[in-house]
Amino acid sequence: MTQNLSIHSNNKKYNVVFVETLVQLIETLSEIPSCITFVDSSIQKLYPGLVEKLSAHSSVYFVDATEENKTLRGAERVIQQLSAEKANKSTTIVAIGGGVVQDIVSFVAHIYFRGLKFIFVPTTLLAMCDSCIGGKCGLNFHGYKNQLGAFHPPEKVFICHDFLMTLEDDALYCGYGEIIKLLLIGDIEAYVNVKSQLLKSGIRNKNVLQHIYQGLVIKKKFIEEDEYDVGVRQILNYGHTFGHALELATQYAMPHGIAVVWGICLANYIAFQKGLLSKQNYEDVNQFMKHFFPMDGLKTVSSDQLILFAQQDKKSKEGKIMMILMKDFENFILEPVVLDHEVQVMLDSYFESYTL
Ligand SMILES: NC(=O)c1ccc[n+]([C@@H]2O[C@H](COP(=O)([O-])OP(=O)(O)OC[C@H]3O[C@@H](n4cnc5c(N)ncnc54)[C@H](O)[C@@H]3O)[C@@H](O)[C@H]2O)c1
Ligand SMILES: [Zn+2]
Repeated sequence: MTQNLSIHSNNKKYNVVFVETLVQLIETLSEIPSCITFVDSSIQKLYPGLVEKLSAHSSVYFVDATEENKTLRGAERVIQQLSAEKANKSTTIVAIGGGVVQDIVSFVAHIYFRGLKFIFVPTTLLAMCDSCIGGKCGLNFHGYKNQLGAFHPPEKVFICHDFLMTLEDDALYCGYGEIIKLLLIGDIEAYVNVKSQLLKSGIRNKNVLQHIYQGLVIKKKFIEEDEYDVGVRQILNYGHTFGHALELATQYAMPHGIAVVWGICLANYIAFQKGLLSKQNYEDVNQFMKHFFPMDGLKTVSSDQLILFAQQDKKSKEGKIMMILMKDFENFILEPVVLDHEVQVMLDSYFESYTL
């Protein structure tokens, strides 16, 4: 059984509880008084029995987990449903779904009557290992991702790994991309173990719960030290500068966690070329990523596109982007990088080498 985790947020403490089966999850959720439940539409289709049982105790609404719905319009729909239910200050909102449902519903929980209690049940690997803690909520605005946002930590998170059974492989690769990121940042021993377990038995790994736990332990350290993301928490953006650029350049055909994997490799290559990262560590990570993660999307992207989209990063200033670069495992710096000809040459040379 996986150990639970306790997260110390600024004004409250909340627990991440590992629930063994869907039956236990239903029992636990059925004990929550005056709650309204919002369920990812895919979960409704894949787990009709779960929804039916929850409906005996709570009003249940469905939310489409699309980026188009992660907008003010999608949030308004949830607000209208809360309003129809006459939600009040003592209502608890429960969300069951991936990061999209979490973002929409927690955003609404934040603003409705200046804040309602929010309980989250993540159903994707990415949401279980990463987004479920940290309290961030974000909506897209006029095509810009996560432009509107707030911090609204949950009251509790329940992780039930039964949900992983119905995820597509790509969704599992995405989650593992974020887990590997967290382990490189904070637990190199775990990185070595997880790497070898993945290489041995593949993406549907029997140790996934332990991997989720190990990832969350690292994230916990950073969010507890810097909840509002003004200092060390920014290290969690490792791989995200070029990761976001890859998502944009492929018009989101490359999913987020996989884009982060290649964003990590590109950032490491730059760190290696700048003499910050040893060849051995660069190659260790790069060889693993190349062996394990899907690479198809990478072949469609050019260095011109990457530089163009990286410049649009919300953290870029006067032509410089702030990049998280690895100096060694567990040792990272925030470095202003000018996206000049030299960097473009580095990106081109990485693209030439990745097929080797
Ligand atoms: N708030 C945060 O801290 C934070 C952190 C990281 C990412 N995010 C956001 O999370 C979103 C991505 O979330 P995600 O990767 O969890 O995916 P998602 O919520 O976009 O879901 C992906 C797809 O999987 C389906 N799905 C969900 N659970 C399933 C299951 N158990 N079986 C089968 N299908 C299932 C969904 O319906 C959807 O079609 C992005 O919008 C990103 O910006 C938020
Ligand atoms: Zn991410």
